Amino acid sequence: MIRVENLTVAYGAFKALNDISVDLGQRGQVHSIIGPNGAGKSTFMDAVVGKRRPSAGRIFYKDRDISGDSIQRRRKNGMARSFQKTSIFPGLTILEQLDLVAAHLNEPDLGAIIDTMDLREVLHLEAARAAYGVQRRVDVALGLIGMPDILLLDEPGAGLSAEETANLFRHLRKLAAERDIAAVVVEHDVEAVFALSDVVTVLDLGRHLATGTPAEIRANPQVVAAYLGTAA
Ligand SMILES: Nc1ncnc2c1ncn2[C@@H]1O[C@H](COP(=O)(O)OP(=O)(O)OP(=O)(O)O)[C@@H](O)[C@H]1O
Ligand SMILES: [Mg+2]
Repeated sequence: MIRVENLTVAYGAFKALNDISVDLGQRGQVHSIIGPNGAGKSTFMDAVVGKRRPSAGRIFYKDRDISGDSIQRRRKNGMARSFQKTSIFPGLTILEQLDLVAAHLNEPDLGAIIDTMDLREVLHLEAARAAYGVQRRVDVALGLIGMPDILLLDEPGAGLSAEETANLFRHLRKLAAERDIAAVVVEHDVEAVFALSDVVTVLDLGRHLATGTPAEIRANPQVVAAYLGTAA
């Protein structure tokens, strides 16, 4: 659904992204974005969702150039991103929070989201007091409200254990399949990424290093040299 063409994003004279071209957002699939610290992963996600303007290049969404569209317009057209942890309103239960967002975004089946993200048992908990792993699942659930076609998540596993991260990825796979949406995820845990992604893109120093299946990426000598090292 998304085609990025020759995307460059500069902070002053520094190019955080340099001439990136990549396709992403296949329905039903999880596409992960990996790379060393400072590679430009967050900048990339920000440019795609409309939080950061490209300095050059274009972004197409469903074959339309959306480079100039606002975050809100992209969201209305089916491009969602996860809410950050700060969006968890203190004092509200998880259910109240989901209801609040659903009331604004015309969600026909909040129950399905609750089930997919495995939140049924914790709905009555105050969101801010729930376990961190639960909070991350709430973040994803909030992004899912309103039937998006694509959901972009920047490090949804931040602060989670390896097991919790793998669990979150399993949920993402399930919902991508069940709702036929595309998930695009920035993630540090390469084990979870390789085990549970359909496609992986590697960024390094603002450049697009490779895109491929987990097996292709693992075997790519450039990726091994730049990021995975000998351990992979
Ligand atoms: N607002 C900003 N102003 C100036 N430089 C920035 C800004 N945001 C990011 N950068 C720089 O751009 C580069 C890419 O940053 P970005 O946050 O996109 O990387 P990242 O791959 O998400 O890193 P991390 O793995 O640490 O999250 C880094 O060198 C960073 O220092
Ligand atoms: Mg980042």
